Amino acid sequence: MEEELLRLQSEAKTELSTIIRPDELESFRVKYLGRKCTLTMLMRKLGEVSAQDRPRLGNLANSIKKEIEADFLEKEMALTQLQATGKGESRKDLTLPGRVIPFGRRHPVSQVMLEICRIFEGLGFAVAEGSDVETDYYNFEALNIPKHHPARDMHDTFYFDESVLLRTHTSPMQIRAMEKQEPPLRIIAPGKVYRCDSDITHTPMFHQVEGFLVDRHVSFADLKGVLSIFIAKMFDSNVAIRFRPSFFPFTEPSAEVDIACVICDGKGCRVCKQTGWIEILGAGLIDPEVFRMVGYDSEKFSGFAFGIGAERIAMLKYGINDIRLYYENDMRFLSQF
Ligand code: DAH
Repeated sequence: MEEELLRLQSEAKTELSTIIRPDELESFRVKYLGRKCTLTMLMRKLGEVSAQDRPRLGNLANSIKKEIEADFLEKEMALTQLQATGKGESRKDLTLPGRVIPFGRRHPVSQVMLEICRIFEGLGFAVAEGSDVETDYYNFEALNIPKHHPARDMHDTFYFDESVLLRTHTSPMQIRAMEKQEPPLRIIAPGKVYRCDSDITHTPMFHQVEGFLVDRHVSFADLKGVLSIFIAKMFDSNVAIRFRPSFFPFTEPSAEVDIACVICDGKGCRVCKQTGWIEILGAGLIDPEVFRMVGYDSEKFSGFAFGIGAERIAMLKYGINDIRLYYENDMRFLSQF
């Protein structure tokens, strides 16, 4: 009998340790603590044992019963607690590798926009943002692009109605800032712009960063100095730069700035159309006509302005040859930045 009791004790212990779900507890209770369980049966048989062994075996049976009961209650509590905290059900396998939590990152174009702003902030420029919806006045008229001016053809404009449109460039921020503030001012204005255009180098929405500075005695040399610092910081500090005469209605003189092709190092390739140069921005000295529109005295003040295409810079920086890749939201592409 003693042997049977001890076997029962160890069986109960083993079985209890394998239980992981609360619904398995009941069958355990019936099997080891129920009215018709082996232990009860054995205890009933105590009467048949010799009077000499009876007290010892009786004590043993009682203490085994108490122990199983206590273990059972402990297990029951542990499982209900697990279930309450939602961690129950399956056993934890601590040898499994941890779960990778994917984390987001900035879009490559956003990264470039931030970098451009950071460089100019380092030069004392303040960041200003405007709205994507503009009026014809700020987008064109005040920038010396009157109705029927041929320069309007360069901007395939999305119009809401005759006077409200999606801004085609960030230059309207020049007018908005100058209307609000007297010189001197140094502002950088990043944002989205829109043109009705789509191919491997154009998307209907793209990003520009406008920059402008107005003060006394600002010259083209200042513009060259600031843009050279920007390009050296954004690209390689030894990259060759050239200022090429151009035309914008809101600057006079105007220039387009090229850098030596980063793909072929200026030798000539498909990307730079064999010229060895790639255009990265438009710039110039602010036209006195623009100053007149905002009420600045062009005899007292002068200034420069520039407009940088963010996608363009990002394409050159990362060697991307199709602008549409930026907007297809393919994670395999985006997660490389
Ligand atoms: N707004 C022009 C465009 O989108 C770019 C530009 C050229 C901006 C010359 C300027 C500038 O501020 O001076 O095509």
